[in-house]
Amino acid sequence: MFDNLRLPVIVAPMAGGPSTPELVAAATRAGGFGFLAGGYLGAEALAGQLDRTAELAGDGEFGVNLFVPGAEASADLTDYRARLAAEGRHYGVEPGQPRWDDDAYPAKLDLLVARRHPMVSFTFGIPSAREVTRLHEVGSTVLITVTSPAEARQAAAAGADALCVQGFEAGGHRALVADDANDPVGGELYGMLAALRLVSAEVDLPLVATGGLVHGADIAAVLAAGAVAAQLGTAFLRAEEAGTNPTQRRALADADRPTALTRAFSGRPARGLVNRFLREHSAHAPAAYPNLHHLSKPIRAAAGKAGDPEAMSLWAGQTYSQAREGTAAEIIERLRREATAAITRASNRLLGE
Ligand SMILES: Cc1cc2nc3c(=O)[nH]c(=O)nc-3n(C[C@H](O)[C@H](O)[C@H](O)COP(=O)(O)O)c2cc1C
Repeated sequence: MFDNLRLPVIVAPMAGGPSTPELVAAATRAGGFGFLAGGYLGAEALAGQLDRTAELAGDGEFGVNLFVPGAEASADLTDYRARLAAEGRHYGVEPGQPRWDDDAYPAKLDLLVARRHPMVSFTFGIPSAREVTRLHEVGSTVLITVTSPAEARQAAAAGADALCVQGFEAGGHRALVADDANDPVGGELYGMLAALRLVSAEVDLPLVATGGLVHGADIAAVLAAGAVAAQLGTAFLRAEEAGTNPTQRRALADADRPTALTRAFSGRPARGLVNRFLREHSAHAPAAYPNLHHLSKPIRAAAGKAGDPEAMSLWAGQTYSQAREGTAAEIIERLRREATAAITRASNRLLGE
């Protein structure tokens, strides 16, 4: 799997703006592999992005990622709504309606089946065995993202062709299959290499490693550890083709904030740069995704428009300070050079040459 890439690097799907058809196509054209982010999009918008990416990517294949909807949360949101009403007043907007929805998942799945899309990945849950079969029947390869050996067993049982194994270093939402409301971070926090080792002991499937990988040497490391490819998100947030908000770009470049996991913006644990919103609300945020995502959306948008990083979700992985600017092709070429140098160094060291 991913055998024909010049560099086994996947540009992660990054919903909410960063993933653009231009970024996905550039990754694919540069010899890596790009994923469109289907999350938060309606089926029609996703169809438009599929067409545009295909136009830009030429013959190159690319993947599409979907959010698997979870059960509707039963948490009482009264107190959190009041907190965010005060935020709304600060930014001159009304908070959104904290509703549950299925992210148009059935319609987007139908679209990908109808288009016989070659590669589909999932996060936030495990598609049903029936859904996986529908994709297999049209020739699609199915990747499921997991964060633990237990989730890996579930994904394998559903019929996944490969797993994307996410360490806690990762930027953005944790790919937790079940979100335990009593746990602020979502279960045991496995680091990238630990997760890869434990998952490979559980299931016999190709594994893609993701979380905190930002340098070519990191790619060499996960390949040496048995992964078939490395999936990088934050490393491409500053790419020219990425749709990253300019205020977030500045915060990434300043590199003066720690990262933390929080439910404050969306109701699901996610890693981002620490800002005022995250500090003030994390301890109070109920486990209610996507209700909190909708509730906070107008506030995040208003802060972004005002160039104020303190109430935006500044998703980024732990190694974000090492993410570099440039075109996606330049970043990929740098990663390739670094990975080759690192693997040569490592092999000389091991073999005593
Ligand atoms: C801004 C942002 C948005 C993300 N959106 C998605 C998404 O839509 N679907 C998904 O499967 N993963 C998403 N992720 C997680 C990535 O797939 C990947 O696991 C993560 O970026 C790896 O860690 P890194 O950011 O340190 O490279 C997102 C990550 C970031 C930083």
